[in-house]
Formats: sequence, structure tokens, C-alpha cells
Amino acid sequence: MSDQQQKNASAKLWGGRFSETTAASVEDFTASIHYDARLYRHDIIGSKVHARMLAKQGLISDEECAAILKGLDGIRAEIESGRFEFRRELEDIHMNIEKALTDRIGAPGEKLHTARSRNDQVALDLRLYLREEGEALLELLEAVQRGFAVLARRYLGTVMPGYTHLQRAQPVLLSHHLLAYVEMFGRDRDRFADWLKRMNVLPLGAAAMAGTGLPIDREFVARELGFPAVSANSMDTAADRDFALEFLFCASVTQLHLSRLAEELVLWAGKEFDFIEIGDRYCTGSSIMPQKKNPDIPELIRGKSGRVTGALMSLMMTLKGLPMTYNRDLQEDKEPVFDALDTVKASLAITAELLENVRFRTERLREAATGGFMTATDLADYLVRKNMPFRQAHGVVGRIVAHCQEKGMELTDMELEELRQFSDTIAEDVMDVLTVEGSVNSRVSAGGTAGVRVEEALARIEQQLGIAG
Ligand code: ARG
Repeated sequence: MSDQQQKNASAKLWGGRFSETTAASVEDFTASIHYDARLYRHDIIGSKVHARMLAKQGLISDEECAAILKGLDGIRAEIESGRFEFRRELEDIHMNIEKALTDRIGAPGEKLHTARSRNDQVALDLRLYLREEGEALLELLEAVQRGFAVLARRYLGTVMPGYTHLQRAQPVLLSHHLLAYVEMFGRDRDRFADWLKRMNVLPLGAAAMAGTGLPIDREFVARELGFPAVSANSMDTAADRDFALEFLFCASVTQLHLSRLAEELVLWAGKEFDFIEIGDRYCTGSSIMPQKKNPDIPELIRGKSGRVTGALMSLMMTLKGLPMTYNRDLQEDKEPVFDALDTVKASLAITAELLENVRFRTERLREAATGGFMTATDLADYLVRKNMPFRQAHGVVGRIVAHCQEKGMELTDMELEELRQFSDTIAEDVMDVLTVEGSVNSRVSAGGTAGVRVEEALARIEQQLGIAG
């Protein structure tokens, strides 16, 4: 081995026991710096608290600590100014920063990694990073909810068909439909918030996986970094990526919800439905068909749900079959996590913008909500209110519908006398339930589509979201 090779080998922070340099192909294959560089800020935040703890515990001197803190701040500034040179042969963000620190401040830099391993360091960085991003996601979800609440207020009173099996089922208020999404994204917020609570545990101090014999103070580090608890078992801590997995599950459900919304927007924008108009700035054209105006944004949101769910599957498969504790496989956690995060954030942000640029065609919605026997259930309920058993009422209305279909009539075209031929229980007041408004406003059960219920729901939601109603 040449002197040069000797020097290269020991230039690695772990180079001591090696007598040959790492193959270039191995450096390429094992490096993660091209994606984990985005953890730089959290890595530095964690290292600064770690250094202060080491000083407090007498493991390094106050002067050494001061030099480390200053050095780390300098590195952060260098990274943020774009001048920092990330080196692939230093593998990851942790060793890039540690090496740069030692290059800057000399000997004290070599003490930073005391009582720490990259195994607990990376677990810390990723938790810190996701905790911050989790808060950002909660805000984005709220913005989407707000968008729906604004639309629900704007279109209060507009009727539309409610669907089951994508067949017109019963008339509902458009606002009721819009507020359904507020509930959906509300559960997403709860889910992320719950995950944030569970993941908020300090991993640092597990060291490689067995803990350390040096007198560290984990509680101090936890307090300084805002963790309410320290992890209980050092082996579990080094092995655990549940927090990343749960994040991906939460992200997948959110993207899935966005995808369901996207599907409706795509359908509604098409001529077959013609329920909405999406503003020109939020559509794209066709390179061949001059007349086309395409809903590419919702289509892409829908498409991206495959990739977010894929990220969840990817990490689940990575974790399956991993023995205790840290295995390098775990490095494969970051790319799916980052990609899913970027995708969900971008999708939420553009959805909030899109909602501001959707106009509903209220006349067209009303037209679609009228006829088609959508008030048949109301007629059955009417008979039930007059004491007829529901099954019998269902039969009577079924026969009326068949009769109408044969004659090419709607329920509202029927004369009272004609209706009474099917059941003499039917009286004058039946017309109140056969109209769209009558039907909608009769559904006063808790959570129903009646105007009074929807207005209550909207008022509650506006209050929760801090919107002046
Ligand atoms: N880049 C590594 C990762 O993301 C950091 C931990 C490496 N630990 C080790 N023992 N090689 O997992």
C-alpha cells in the first residue's frame, strides 16, 4: 500500500482499521449524501445540543464546546450560502459535517462524536426533520379545509345530485358534499397530530445500540431539543423506523383523499357532468386539439397517489426481515420519505390554490338534481311516517316508479289521484316531499343534508378554522 493510499484510507473518519482504500464503486453505491444533505440543519442542531451536553458533563471543556458551536454555525452558513462542498467519499451528511468541523477547528472537532454513533444520530436527525415538516403539513391541510369551507359558504343553498355507485341517488346540498371533504382532511390532521405525539421521543444516547459507558445526560438533550421523553431501549431505538413508516401511512391516506377529490374534479370538469369550470390559469391545453382545456392538476394529483403509496410499501419491505438493530438497509428509509413528503406538500398546496379557481355551474347542478326518481326514498319515508311498514312502502314506491318509467313521466308529473291508485295513504301533503327542496330539507337527522344541519356544520367548521362566517 502506497503512502497516498494509506492517507486516503485513514482520511475516512472510520479509516483506522483499514489498510486499503475503498473502491470508487463502493463509495458510489453506499453514499447517501446526495439526498441526506437535506438533513444538514437538523444534524447541526442536534450536534450543538450534544456538544453542550458533553461540556456540561465534563466530557469536553467549555473552550472546546465553544469552538465546536462556532464551527458548526460556520458550516451551516457555508451550506446555506451554497459554498459548502459535499463530498461523496464522506458518505453521508453526518460525516460531511463532522469532517468539515475538524478541518475548520482542528482537535476539538474530533471530540464531537464522543458518546454518539451515526445510528442514534441519523434517527435523531430524521425525527427532528419530520417533526418540523409535520407541522407544515398540518398547516397545509388546514388551508385545504379552509378552501372547502369558503366554497361551502359561497354556494350555500345550491342543490346537486348525491351519488352512490356513481348513479344519481338522492338530492343533497353542494355545501354538504364540500364539507364532507373538510371532515376527511380533518381526520388526516388528527392522524398526523397523533403521529407527531408518538414520534416525539429522543433517540440520541442509544449510541451504536447498547447505550454508552460515558456519563451522558439524555434528559438534558431531550429538554433542549423539545422532546418530552427519551427512548426506553437503546436497541429498539437503533432499529426503529416506525415513525417514518407511520408518517408514510399518514401521507398515503392524505394523498389518497386528494386523489378521490381529484377524480371528482376531473369528472365534474368534463362535458358529461359539466358541474364545474376550472380557471384557465389552472388548466392546460392540448398540443394537437385546439379546443381542449384539460384538468391536468387533478390528474397529476391522482397519479401521484401511486407514488406516495409506493413509498409506504417500499419502506415496509425494507423493514421486513431486518434483524436487530441497525442495519445499513435503514439508509433506504430516506428517499421514499422525502419523495412522499415533497409530493404530499406540493399536492396539498396546489389543491388549496385550485379550490380558489373552481366555479360551480349551479343551474346545471340543480338540473341534474331534479327528476330521475331521486326523491323515491322520500316518498317511501312519507308512507312510513303515515304508519306503513318500510318494506311495504318500498314496494309501493317501486311500483310507482315502474309506472312512471313506462309512461315516460317523473314523480312530480303524477297527479294526486294517480298516486292514490297505488296507495290511499297518499294525501295532498305528498307534494312537499317530492320536490328537490322538500327532499333535501327533510333530511334533518344529525349529519344530514338539510339546510339547517349544513348551516350548523358550516358554522362549527368556520369557528374551528377561525373563519368569520
Ligand atoms: N447514512 C446512514 C443512514 O442513513 C447513517 C447511519 C450509518 N451507520 C452506520 N453504522 N453505517 O442510515
